[in-house]
Amino acid sequence: MLKTPDLLLLLCVLGAVDGLYKQWIPDTNYENKTNWDKGDVPCGSDTAHFPAQRRVAVFVETTHAVQEMRLPVDGEFILNSGAGFYVVGGQDPGCGAGVTTKFKDSDSLQWFNPALWQAASTPNDPQQGKFQFSVHEERVPCQYDDVVFKAHSSFRVGVSCHQSVVPVRSLSVLGKTFETNSEFSEYLSSHTGRLQFHGSSVVTVGNPSCEDPSGCECGNSVHHQQICSSTTCDSVSCEKPLLPVGHCCVVCGAILTIRYAAGFNLQNYRERIYDQFLSQPQYKSIQVGVSKISKPQRLLGIIPFGTSPEIQVVILDGAGGTQAEALAQELVNDANSHGSALGITEVELQTSSENTTDPTGTSTAMVVGVVFGVLVLLTLITILVVLGRRRTASTAACQAEKPRLFLPTHQEKSFPVMQPALSSPLRSMLL
Ligand SMILES: *[C@@H]1O[C@H](CO)[C@@H](O)[C@H](O)[C@H]1NC(C)=O
Ligand SMILES: *[C@@H]1O[C@H](CO)[C@@H](O)[C@H](O)[C@H]1NC(C)=O
Repeated sequence: MLKTPDLLLLLCVLGAVDGLYKQWIPDTNYENKTNWDKGDVPCGSDTAHFPAQRRVAVFVETTHAVQEMRLPVDGEFILNSGAGFYVVGGQDPGCGAGVTTKFKDSDSLQWFNPALWQAASTPNDPQQGKFQFSVHEERVPCQYDDVVFKAHSSFRVGVSCHQSVVPVRSLSVLGKTFETNSEFSEYLSSHTGRLQFHGSSVVTVGNPSCEDPSGCECGNSVHHQQICSSTTCDSVSCEKPLLPVGHCCVVCGAILTIRYAAGFNLQNYRERIYDQFLSQPQYKSIQVGVSKISKPQRLLGIIPFGTSPEIQVVILDGAGGTQAEALAQELVNDANSHGSALGITEVELQTSSENTTDPTGTSTAMVVGVVFGVLVLLTLITILVVLGRRRTASTAACQAEKPRLFLPTHQEKSFPVMQPALSSPLRSMLL
């Protein structure tokens, strides 16, 4: 039998992180009222009008009576078994006088619109209405994700961006899952495929899964502008709104930024948050998004130097709730007490309310940051002074070294942010 440490080790070795399932929301189904301009599916006295130039595939689930049907030049019905149309002679009782109802245009619906996707962690979750919160960039399918178009459903999606291909791991259409690109590109060139996907870029499937247990970056930051251009932000009412990496809008709640070591497993950590914390009744309206991001590093908070991978946990209050910060604090405590088992080395907390544990209004993380900055500055000055002295001795020898003397040492330096034992002496040092 495996002892716990062995089991943990095994999990780490096997633990490639699955992507999420991203489901496209809109459809072009005949039965969906929102697809008809009168807000209702045409009935027996009505004329169903598909505008002539509209290219669309329409899924029909059952049998429908119509008075008349005008069809487009290039379109198709995908009939469920037993589905079809029939004509009622004269007026259909219970249908009214009869109107002409137009099928709406779906050409404007774009792949890179985050409002048109929802994310789930297993293929069964969408059926149970279980969806996850993600930052805007990650609502759109990431390169490691499985894309799902609902099984009994037709759709039309525009895929256009500044890259010629949009890679994903797999893609399901009408209940069939494509995992190799040769199969999928054949489907794309079929009549149905060409009606469903249009635009200047091509979706490719068969991208490998994320092999890094600590997670992989979504890869959509190159599309940030395009993704955010279709997003309108709600107004927020907190004191210090936060802007999560990868999100288009400022939010109220809390953000944890986690630095990790070997042994950190993103999927396990996400499940830990969902199972141990979000399942508690006081947190039921809270939304949490966990992802790997790459955060720009700044020396003294100003000078950019490279990026480092970090885990971002975005915690938002649902309707009217105020529990996000309480949950964030619980997660910080959890990381402080189980950090080494979880592979977490540092946690930084940002909250959107003015209230923090620090009475001066500066959050602990910021205080430590300032102290750290001062330390860096002191070190810099020391180095410069030493350099200056040496330079008087041998000017030529120093010049080549000077620019890269100090940056790497501080990049590697690590400091635990949220440990109260450390923060109090630091704070008093500063005051
Ligand atoms: C009908 O379409 C709307 C918008 O495209 C979508 O949100 C909704 O889920 C669809 N209804 C059903 C029953 O699928
Ligand atoms: C902030 O703190 C003050 C006093 O410490 C308290 O009265 C107020 O309710 C707090 N506000 C929030 C949003 O927690």
